[in-house]
Parts: sequence; structure tokens; C-alpha cells
Amino acid sequence: MLQHFYTLNSTASSIDFAFWLITAIVTFFAVFNGALTFYFLWRFNAKRNPKPRIDLEGNIPLEVFWTLVPTVLVFVFFWYGYVAFKGVRDFPEDSLYVKVTGRMWSWTFEYPNGEVTTELIVPVGKPVVLEVTSADVIHSFYVPAFRNKIDAIPGMKTYMWFTAPELGDYDVLCAEYCGLRHAYMLTKVVAKTEEEFKQEVFAGPAPAVASAGETSGATVALAATAPAAPSEADLAKKGEKLTKVKACVSCHSTDGSRLVGPSFKGLWASKHLVTTADGGEHEVTVDDAYVARAIKEPNAEVVKGYPAAMTPQTLSDDDITAVIAYLKSIQ
Ligand code: CUA
Repeated sequence: MLQHFYTLNSTASSIDFAFWLITAIVTFFAVFNGALTFYFLWRFNAKRNPKPRIDLEGNIPLEVFWTLVPTVLVFVFFWYGYVAFKGVRDFPEDSLYVKVTGRMWSWTFEYPNGEVTTELIVPVGKPVVLEVTSADVIHSFYVPAFRNKIDAIPGMKTYMWFTAPELGDYDVLCAEYCGLRHAYMLTKVVAKTEEEFKQEVFAGPAPAVASAGETSGATVALAATAPAAPSEADLAKKGEKLTKVKACVSCHSTDGSRLVGPSFKGLWASKHLVTTADGGEHEVTVDDAYVARAIKEPNAEVVKGYPAAMTPQTLSDDDITAVIAYLKSIQ
């Protein structure tokens, strides 16, 4: 047990050790001093002791004792706190480097190869350094299992590192109140084996599929250079990923439930009364033009009954086409 406590290369155990050490010593003195106070109240009550029995001027050894002991204790607290803090701040060499962006209300993770995910996938047992920032307001990236969190601040980069000790999922929370859906700004650190990790994050674009029989290198290379138009299903898939990466789904549910904005489910081709910036109202049908406008100028025509809470998003025309394909797929 104690051996585990002293494993200082793991930040969580050194933080836990500092926490429990301080808690134990402080609890001991709180109980001891409290008990002594009540004992003295009873023992030296004026009714029981009408006249002081001794005239105490002072006691040098006792005063030295109760000055030295707390001083030593405070330095012990400092030392273990410092060791834990150093473990958090000293970044190991050869780490995986991931850029983390917080936004209202989701997290995205960008890997060195440009791959973007909405869950932080890491190889188990390998140190990971995070470069954290925010696209809007202040958030805080918090992984309770690692006893570690760092603020995500717009226009600034902050850093933290960790090693996921075991395969599995670790909850990620936002630890800085950032608005309506702060409590739902959740994701996971997913620790996988090195192989699974590489496959998932560093796989690159899927190779073009050669038709049956055509397995020679030349044929595959030719097939790969001729770009085929993406199928509607692929487009919808890309659109679905975009709605996660761009945090659309923080405010627009995909199951029909009401969040900050209208649900994506059943949105396509539906008719809505919208309010314009000048206070006018008219009916629109959710089509290509409306979706494109709602992404680029979200407050131009706001669906009635919903707040004008969305910030304009920068999506390419291809991305918007993909989002539209996705909306069509979840009617
Ligand atoms: Cu983001 Cu709270």
C-alpha cells in the first residue's frame, strides 16, 4: 500500500498521497484539540476551581515545542505538495502531442496527423501532452481519475500531461462554469493498445476498393487516383462527424428532444415560423438554402420559440453539403 503511495512517476498517486497525508494530520489535530478543549472546560471550570491553584508565567520548553512541531509539519505539507506539483508540471520526453479545444459545449482533439476526434483516444501506458485552448469562453479540462485539470482559455495555450495506466474509459468533465450546457460538456479519454490506437487515429483515408480480381498494384493505384463522387451515405457520415466536431450537437439533439435549439431529427423539409432581426415573422421550409444560411448567419432567421443563441460557423460548401446529407438521413 505504502509502496503504491510512493510511486511518484504517476501524478495521481503523488497527489493522492499529499491529500491523504494532510487530511490525516489535520484530522488528528482537529480531534485532539477539540477533545482537549472540552476536557479543560470541564476540569478548570470556575465552580470547580474558585481560586487559581498555580500562577503560571510561561514555559519556554513548551513554547519552543509548539512552535517547532507545526513549523516542521507545514514544511512536510509543502514538500509532498511540491513533489506532486512537480510531477504534474514536468512533461516527459517522447509524448504523444494532442491539441484540445473546448467550446460551448464540447471538446475536440486534434492529433499530429490532423485527425480530429470528439473522444481523446490514447495509447495505454504512454505519456500524452495536451495543448489546451478554447474557441469561446473559459472552460476547464478535467479528468478526475488522473487528478488533473487545466483551464481552457481563449487566445491562450495551457498544457497538461498524463499517462493512462490501464485500458478503458476515463471520464472528462468541464470544471469551469461556461453557460447553459456546462454540465453536459462531457467526453472520455479512451485508452487503447498501441496497435488499436494507431489503427483508429493514424489510419489515414480508406484505400480505394478495387473490384474483384483487380488486385495488382497498378490497378489499385489507378483506382485510387480517380476520385469517385462520394455516396450519399458517406456524405451523411461525414456530416454526422462534423456536427460533433463543430459542437452542433451540444445544442441540437438528434433524437427529437429539445435542447438550446431545434432538434436535428425531423428538421429537414419541415416548415417553421422564423423571426428575423427586424422583428418580422415568416414561414420557411428547411431546405439547402435555409440550412446554409442558418449555419453562416444563424441569427438572420431564428426559429420562433428558440433563443438567438448561436454563433456564426465557418464551414466550407462541401461541409455544408455533408451536413445537409446527414439531416436528410435522420428525418
Ligand atoms: Cu465548458 Cu463548463
